[in-house]
Amino acid sequence: MPLVCLADFQVHAQKHLSKTTWDFIEGAADEGFTRDENIAAFKKIHLRPRYLRDVSKVDTKTTIQGEEISAPICIAPTGFHCLAWPDGELSTARAAQEAGICYITSTYASCALEDIVTSAPRGLRWFQLYVQPDRLLNKQLIRKAESLGFKALVITVDAPTIGNRRHDFRNQLDLKMNLLLKEFQSLKERNSIPHLQRSSIDPSICWNDLSWFQGITHLPIILKGILTKEDAELAVKHNVHGIIVSNHGGRQLDEVPASIDALTEVVTAVKGKIEVYLDGGIRTGNDVLKALALGAKCIFLGRPILWGLAYKGEHGVQEVLNILKKEFHTAMTLSGCRSVAEINRDLVQFPRL
Ligand code: FNR
Repeated sequence: MPLVCLADFQVHAQKHLSKTTWDFIEGAADEGFTRDENIAAFKKIHLRPRYLRDVSKVDTKTTIQGEEISAPICIAPTGFHCLAWPDGELSTARAAQEAGICYITSTYASCALEDIVTSAPRGLRWFQLYVQPDRLLNKQLIRKAESLGFKALVITVDAPTIGNRRHDFRNQLDLKMNLLLKEFQSLKERNSIPHLQRSSIDPSICWNDLSWFQGITHLPIILKGILTKEDAELAVKHNVHGIIVSNHGGRQLDEVPASIDALTEVVTAVKGKIEVYLDGGIRTGNDVLKALALGAKCIFLGRPILWGLAYKGEHGVQEVLNILKKEFHTAMTLSGCRSVAEINRDLVQFPRL
């Protein structure tokens, strides 16, 4: 039977991946409340379609940070793609290039950055950084991403430490994962960071440190993991170029709101000064439409990309992206939106509970 929606790819992935890999991908922090809420919250928002508007031509194209993408549907950073498919991130990069969308490559990619770029030289990519305790290492990673043509630096702020992922503790996953980090291995082998034993995340990073990053790179900086108006205002004040409203797919602090529920607060706080994006729980074209109606410029997909990889590598990711793009196109058509610019707040309502 053909796979016709993103949920079908999830069912397939669960059947075909090892338990340890499935648990790692699907898992969340603590009791998984936020991961489930990310999905449930979309279903509490209703659509308000408009009719008789000549929708014979519908255009899903848009831009992020000035770059054109074929639809506001891009790929969130997730680590260790080789767990889901042998050539991992190389397949993901090719599928993203083919789809004409942006792929945020993780610090924890299981392929080296140069190989990812070689596999899809024309693709639009941003580099995601888990800030490392060693400043020199951060600098090397950023310089490398810059020289390889990555177009933005995404700093993940919701992970000063890794959340309590009970399934990974049970599966004793930690050490094995570090061995998969090609970028870190190559830095170690080239002896540029001789004392580097394993990757880690700097818990001391704070707002004042942003100027250090702004001083060493010309790339626009995007903060990933903002959930409150207070932090959104600080982000604008510190001259970052964008915010990804995200709770890390429920993998960090559990019991925070669904991303879609935090979006309005952040969008209102930034007052249109910078672009706001969203990830977490996007599974259908209607979800994409709702996120845009509430002010997201674009959405990012985490787990569904890994399900696509687990299905058929590059072609599986392409199928996931094509299905979601098609659903989004249909959602736009059925609600009377001819262009992404026509999607606005009037398209959604929150029913009284
Ligand atoms: C992630 N996420 C993540 N985020 C990040 O900034 N750097 C990373 O390396 C990773 N790695 C990662 C691995 C896996 C297996 C998952 C599921 C997630 C979080 C990711 O970017 C995104 O915020 C969520 O996955 C979005 O939620 P959905 O689409 O998975 O519901």
